[in-house]
Amino acid sequence: MTLKEATEQAARLRRIIEEHNRHYYMENKPTISDFEYDLLVGQLAGIERLFPALAVATSPTQRVGSDRTREFAQVAHKYAMLSLSNTYSIDEVRDFDGRVRKMLPDAPEYVCELKFDGTAIGLTYVHGFLRQAVTRGDGERGDEVTDNIRTIGSIPRELPPGDWPDEFEIRGEVVMPFRAFEQLNDERRAAGEFLFANPRNAAAGSLKLLDSRIAARRGLDCIFYYIPGDRLPFETHFDGLKKAAEWGFRVSEQATKCRTVEEIVAFIDYWADARKTLPYATDGVVIKVNALAQQRQLGLTAKSPRWATAFKFKAEQATTTLLSVDFQVGRTGAVTPVANLQPVLLAGTTVRRASLHNADQIALLNIRLHDRVIVEKGGEIIPKVVGVDLSQRPADSLPFQFITHCPECGTPLVRDGGEAKHYCPNDTHCPPQILGKILHFASRKAMNIVAGEATIERLYREGLVKDAADLYSLKKDDLLRFDNWGEKSTDNLLRSIAGSLQTPFPKTLYALGIRYVGETIAKKLADAMPSIDAIAQASIDDLLTIDEIGERIAQSIIRYFADESNRRLIVRLRQAGVQWEKSATPSSGSNRLAGTVFVITGTLSRPREDFKTLIEQHGGRTAGDVGAKTTHLLAGPNAGSKWARAQKAGMEILDEEAFYHLIHTNSF
Ligand code: IVH
Repeated sequence: MTLKEATEQAARLRRIIEEHNRHYYMENKPTISDFEYDLLVGQLAGIERLFPALAVATSPTQRVGSDRTREFAQVAHKYAMLSLSNTYSIDEVRDFDGRVRKMLPDAPEYVCELKFDGTAIGLTYVHGFLRQAVTRGDGERGDEVTDNIRTIGSIPRELPPGDWPDEFEIRGEVVMPFRAFEQLNDERRAAGEFLFANPRNAAAGSLKLLDSRIAARRGLDCIFYYIPGDRLPFETHFDGLKKAAEWGFRVSEQATKCRTVEEIVAFIDYWADARKTLPYATDGVVIKVNALAQQRQLGLTAKSPRWATAFKFKAEQATTTLLSVDFQVGRTGAVTPVANLQPVLLAGTTVRRASLHNADQIALLNIRLHDRVIVEKGGEIIPKVVGVDLSQRPADSLPFQFITHCPECGTPLVRDGGEAKHYCPNDTHCPPQILGKILHFASRKAMNIVAGEATIERLYREGLVKDAADLYSLKKDDLLRFDNWGEKSTDNLLRSIAGSLQTPFPKTLYALGIRYVGETIAKKLADAMPSIDAIAQASIDDLLTIDEIGERIAQSIIRYFADESNRRLIVRLRQAGVQWEKSATPSSGSNRLAGTVFVITGTLSRPREDFKTLIEQHGGRTAGDVGAKTTHLLAGPNAGSKWARAQKAGMEILDEEAFYHLIHTNSF
């Protein structure tokens, strides 16, 4: 690879990775798996290793991956990281107080604190030194991010002399102050990178940076609010906070003792407004029973302690001008209107775009271009338009016209009876829909071609794959040239494509993506009809005799096969070797793995789901984690703690090859 090629390739990968970051952080809707994402970052890292000059500080390899990076060790929490029950009304706070009083022999005292809107962290100190920092994760296990936590200036790495326990944990919220957040996004905007939706995402993302030197520059802070454990040198939560402050921690400084609901309400009322002057985001008030003895009496439920609750502030609103509306066409042809707004500060961040949902919603809210609209930021990442200030409507304003034609392909839009969304019906020639069909075809439950969505998207964009059948004519040289891929990834992709020809008929039928023909209907169809030809020739009446197939589905099937381009696609797929008939020999299993319990870990050549199926076909079982009942570990490269534990426990550890050997087969 020449430097020029590498530069281009790195730029291309960065663009794609940035796009996925956007899906993940901005839209909260990842479109590829973590594994596929890691592969992309891995490819980029490979190029940067070859050409170190390309490893600029803003490269995604140097920055945030996501909270799905595998590079962090998973650590079990000593005390589960529970969440808090939420309330939105003072009445519910009264109910909470009522429950607490009923369960306790003595009247409680409460502590009210602000609820900080960041990301939770648990720090363990041993002999006064910061030993370990773990994110919440799933509450049971989290990521160990100690190196990044050490870069936060206000977190003590070593405690001053004091009466701290030899070993203890302290929990708090890592927050990114608004100033640091705005500055970070300004820099990112200038560099053409995706922007973080809010300080919470930015804080969480920064903790997952692989390079602590970059994390150090993110302006993070941490506010502590809880010390779990039972042998502690204080009797009340409030005294615990005081102690923590003495030991050098920044604690929740607004904490106030309250005796009655009225005092709690006064705290809430005050901070509902006053919080807007704070340098970081808060989203509620946490009310905790103060005495640790009473906390113990109240105990926990499976999800949250009974001794605490969170009152959440209402979503903040702002008013701004609707500048224009974009229409996005999704992979199913659904059209979504998105508002472009005069940038406005909302809940500490600048909002530029907001969702308008669909034409009904626009009509219901009576929204027009250039209106002053009210936007709200709730729990979701994308804010929404919730109303219009009619008093400010310009005199010459006209009712909003929803588009009538697809912005991608120009086809007149349709709206099926009862559906809120407009659709582009051109599912054979509209670019986002063609791509959608190819992705569906390749997806795990269909042909199970192990190529990341990003790869397929690129193959499509570069014109190498224009429909599903083109996948089968991909040449190794094309791929190597087109993407500078390594031999290995190219071989893997081609092998996976070739392997997909073994996919049985019900799945190949499902893979076509006929509207309303999901997995179950595809199975029913394949049960009732011996081949694709039989289905293509079936009349409405034939189809209606099949279990679970009604008018709507039957019509859709007829429509699909009436389309010349669909029929051509099926012929080409047949030429490639796709199975369009029911196979006579169902895939056979055995009892070779009876009594075994497998745990699967590390990087394998196929999705874990596939190995799980194979193990089950041969009479074995699988488990998520290494435990007393585990008998075997199937481990690929990069296996982590599971491998270590399995080895310690003396379990049989197999790589893929040994596994195939065990079941006497050499493929899927
Ligand atoms: S106390 C067992 N206090 O809110 C109770 N949590 O929804 C431990 N949070 O996981 C939590 N500010 O990440 C507590 N002053 C505060 C808090 C707070 C923010 C977060 C924390 C917790 C989540 C619960």
